[in-house]
Amino acid sequence: MKKERETGRRLTFFIQTFGCQMNARDSEKLAGILTRIGFEPAEDEAADLVLYNTCTVRDNANQRVYGRLGHLNSLKKKNPDMLIALCGCMMQEESVIEKIRQSYRFVDIVFGTHNIFKLAELLYEKLTRRDRVIDIWQETDRIVEELPAERKYPFKSGVNIMFGCNNFCSYCIVPYVRGRERSRKPEDILLEIKRLAKDGVVEIMLLGQNVNSYGKNLKEPITFAELLRKIEEIEGIERIRFMTSHPKDLSGDLIEAIRDSKKICRHLHLPLQSGSSRILKEMNRHYDKGQYLGLVKKIREAVPDIALTTDIIVGFPGETEEDFLETMDVVEQVGYESAFTFIYSKRTGTPAAKMECQVPQEVVKNRFDRLLEKVQAIAAKRAGAYTGRVEPVLVEEVNAQDEALVTGRLGSNFVVHFPGSREMVGKIVNVELKECKGFYFYGEAIT
Ligand code: SAH
Ligand code: SF4
Ligand code: F3S
Repeated sequence: MKKERETGRRLTFFIQTFGCQMNARDSEKLAGILTRIGFEPAEDEAADLVLYNTCTVRDNANQRVYGRLGHLNSLKKKNPDMLIALCGCMMQEESVIEKIRQSYRFVDIVFGTHNIFKLAELLYEKLTRRDRVIDIWQETDRIVEELPAERKYPFKSGVNIMFGCNNFCSYCIVPYVRGRERSRKPEDILLEIKRLAKDGVVEIMLLGQNVNSYGKNLKEPITFAELLRKIEEIEGIERIRFMTSHPKDLSGDLIEAIRDSKKICRHLHLPLQSGSSRILKEMNRHYDKGQYLGLVKKIREAVPDIALTTDIIVGFPGETEEDFLETMDVVEQVGYESAFTFIYSKRTGTPAAKMECQVPQEVVKNRFDRLLEKVQAIAAKRAGAYTGRVEPVLVEEVNAQDEALVTGRLGSNFVVHFPGSREMVGKIVNVELKECKGFYFYGEAIT
């Protein structure tokens, strides 16, 4: 590239990812494309190309991007050749694009969730045309296979099994910014996982907004449970995880597949959102409190050692104290190993944004604090029950604070720190859980 010759060195890139694992996986693909065309990764935003892969699921995700953009602008003033690119879910919103056109003129390239495979082309266009490039697709029915990817971890990887979402939960913007549900063909998924296994990957996380409806709209339909059974047979893969399971589509067959598997981690993320049947109906979730609890009972009976985690929204429009207490009740009855709690965020264009009786902020804050307290107390108790056990742990990294320790995860997703060395990273070792610190452990490797 001309610019490379001018500077006498390879051009560098820095990608900042906001949001969920889908975005994280997209960023690996974007890094893969950039590496293929000769860019090198940089440590921070002092790079020739800075790309923000954005999220818009809650308003604070958007605000963080705007905040960081201000900082990028000041970097660019010092280095006018720097390229700034934005992509991801936020870019699928018209109001965002309008704002960037008007007030963020220093942004060079903007694209969305449906055309990440075009990055090289868009860069070329920008460098040859000099004008800023904005390319957003409203929708797509395409799935682009065979994109290169630069994995963040050599030993674990996300694998998209489907894209988009058809559920239209009334608070959620994801279906609008990620498009309709599209499943990848099983043979493409299996091929990707086999290649990953050959490349040293031992743990995979199957990704989809609702993995339980995987395969329904393929020409040759297949269920998620059937897909899992095929993945189980792939040599070299030792741990299988998946995200996210919508309770309405969780089948008995899937529970059996988990029960019978030696590789599927004993962890299920099962978003509750609310414990109130009335609110769940308003949320368009297609299950009620009783059905959710029934499902949990069925899962725990079949797989007694499974860890359950969840997502909960506080302050959905019209949520009363009674509704909130129903949520507290489910949290207590289920006893989650961990829960992500969110304050409801109004997303323009969703049905909930138009609902009356938005709950006052101080009421929401009070409920949120009470919920968090309960969730943390229960999680600490659940974690405490693991103390003394010996569990297989996938070592992920040398501890950032203390180099004598390594950090890894149990199948149930709890984090453990224990004495070890860099050579252990990427390996599965048996660790005795010595001390529980609430939501993580200190342990010792058993040889
Ligand atoms: N597809 C997944 C969720 C993806 S979004 C599922 O259905 O479970 C991740 C989480 O963000 C959701 O589970 C929900 O708890 C939260 N969330 C989504 N929209 C939100 C909003 N408008 N306000 C607050 N939290 C929201
Ligand atoms: Fe959003 Fe619901 Fe789809 Fe999850 S299932 S992404 S919460 S619309
Ligand atoms: Fe955010 Fe998009 Fe994921 S809105 S949560 S990054 S699908």
